[in-house]
Amino acid sequence: MSSGSWGTFLRRLALGCFLLATSLLLFFTYFKEKVSFFSVEACRTAVCPEDAPTRDSNPNQFSVQQDQAPCQDADTVLLIWTWPFGLKFDLGCSAFNVTRCRLTDDRSLYHKAHGILFHHRDIPRNLAGFPREPRPCYQKWVWSNMESPANSAPIAALDHLFNLTCSYRLDSDVPVPYGYLVPLTSEDERFKLPEKTQLVCWVVSNWNSRHRRVQFYQELKKHVPVSAYGSTFHRSLSDGEYVKVVSSCKFYLSFENSEARDYITEKFYRPMMLGSVPVALGPPRQNYEDHVPADSFIHVDDFPSPKALAERLLQLDQDAAEYTRFFNWTNRFRVHKSWFGKEHACKTCGYLQTNRGRHVTPHLNKWYWG
Ligand SMILES: *[C@@H]1O[C@H](CO)[C@@H](O)[C@H](O)[C@H]1NC(C)=O
Ligand SMILES: *[C@@H]1O[C@H](CO)[C@@H](O)[C@H](O)[C@H]1NC(C)=O
Ligand SMILES: *[C@@H]1O[C@H](CO)[C@@H](O)[C@H](O)[C@H]1NC(C)=O
Repeated sequence: MSSGSWGTFLRRLALGCFLLATSLLLFFTYFKEKVSFFSVEACRTAVCPEDAPTRDSNPNQFSVQQDQAPCQDADTVLLIWTWPFGLKFDLGCSAFNVTRCRLTDDRSLYHKAHGILFHHRDIPRNLAGFPREPRPCYQKWVWSNMESPANSAPIAALDHLFNLTCSYRLDSDVPVPYGYLVPLTSEDERFKLPEKTQLVCWVVSNWNSRHRRVQFYQELKKHVPVSAYGSTFHRSLSDGEYVKVVSSCKFYLSFENSEARDYITEKFYRPMMLGSVPVALGPPRQNYEDHVPADSFIHVDDFPSPKALAERLLQLDQDAAEYTRFFNWTNRFRVHKSWFGKEHACKTCGYLQTNRGRHVTPHLNKWYWG
């Protein structure tokens, strides 16, 4: 090849490459627009303009106008960032009447997720393992926790990070108490008071002599017999045994390991469900009454001393009619025990569907630990 025709060839090659590159560029620009025009991503972006107002309190305020966003038909995607305490659950939400929700633990769906659910006790102090990519403007990060403040360490870096809260606290954006009463339907079995063979029972798994509940128990048992179970007493119970034992007790010591607002756990709801009257030690009575009828339980603060409580229990032991009144609620309600993790995820997803406006949780630490 002569040097002249070599030059012509190079020029043609360069021109060819240029034309190819240009047309590819044009094609992809057009194609990308086309794709994103129909993609969920694009219409989600449409629901979060820069100046969208921030809502801090009333969850119902904003939803109306935002719900008219073009993508309301798309399934809502909630990404479970880590399984809470490593416990997996199935990803269906029909049990909670939540439809068109897609729960997933597939992190590659990060950019499709309307929400990401984080579990406090699985969050490392340095936030290692958190998403590195920028948060899409439509995406809400949800802080969840079922442990009391005393049983979960505050992390300063969590302020100004999350959009929503999900916990047993009734003032969470997505409240999921450990249990709650639901009105009876005709399908529910009628409550029958189980046969009683013991007066007062207590099952304790975490024995700590600094806990108020242990001190209270030590005093109470001087005045009334208490059947105590758990490893401390070398009487551990299987789940089946727990059901049998607790049903057979007239009263059950629903003593929480720490006293915090709304922290009313399965220690309260399970006995209630099993036909034993809970004797509550935890937040004040007033707070229990936010959750259950006032006449469905006994509270230790109703009495000036453990001895006075013991006397009342002994008296109720002799009065069947008065004792039975504690079960008046069973004519109207049954106990629902929340599903750990699954109920949080489903209810959060349901919340995201109807609350599309921007929302921030600036002062998480002050709110929860303050
Ligand atoms: C489930 O949701 C539908 C539609 O929102 C409602 O009509 C129905 O009553 C709900 N069912 C229950 C059991 O809550
Ligand atoms: C039981 O509850 C009903 C309302 O459902 C009430 O009318 C009745 O007085 C209650 N009985 C007792 C003994 O508290
Ligand atoms: C979520 O919270 C972050 C941090 O406060 C905030 O920058 C972002 O705008 C919020 N997004 C939504 C959709 O509320």
